[in-house]
Amino acid sequence: MNSAPHAAELKVLVTRDHIRERVAELAAQITRDYAGQSVVLVGVLKGAAIFLSDLARQIQLDTTFDFISVSSYGGGKQSSGEVRLYKDVDQSMSDKNIILVEDILDTGLTIQFLRRLFLNRAPRSLKIAALLDKKCRRTAPVDGDYVGFVIPDEFVVGYGLDYNERYRNLPDVCILPPGQI
Ligand code: PRP
Repeated sequence: MNSAPHAAELKVLVTRDHIRERVAELAAQITRDYAGQSVVLVGVLKGAAIFLSDLARQIQLDTTFDFISVSSYGGGKQSSGEVRLYKDVDQSMSDKNIILVEDILDTGLTIQFLRRLFLNRAPRSLKIAALLDKKCRRTAPVDGDYVGFVIPDEFVVGYGLDYNERYRNLPDVCILPPGQI
């Protein structure tokens, strides 16, 4: 175990109650936008797993989900700027309403890579859902269609987000102080 702080010592940025309310609003919006249609949620492992599972249970549509695994960060804090595909989806994306589900948009490089990849698969539609958006960090020209919270440039953990694989299970989104990274 390293010297990173105990979860209880971290400052909360977005509470579990605000997350629950906002996820319900996003799900209601998705339910309205795709009324009468089905959607495929594609979660980007690992960070989006918790957001996807909460979102999926609130969407009142014929919904399936799948997962893709890419990495841009390795184990540390800074993006390497390079996106690698580790695991692809298990089903055809052709003529489907795809919603890529991310925990966070940072530089946008990951979602830009995934948008291009999925647009080449002839979906009926393609949209992006992200719980958090660090808009001030964006270098790639991409935006989310369903965004939970625009947040400042802090290193955040919890609700799926990690630091060296820790803290993903925290129910709130918390700030890891710069001295601890
Ligand atoms: C994080 C996050 C996004 C990506 C966002 O993934 O889940 O996929 O970085 O950063 P970007 O906008 O700068 O590309 P990470 O590679 O840390 O993997 P993880 O989800 O397994 O933690």
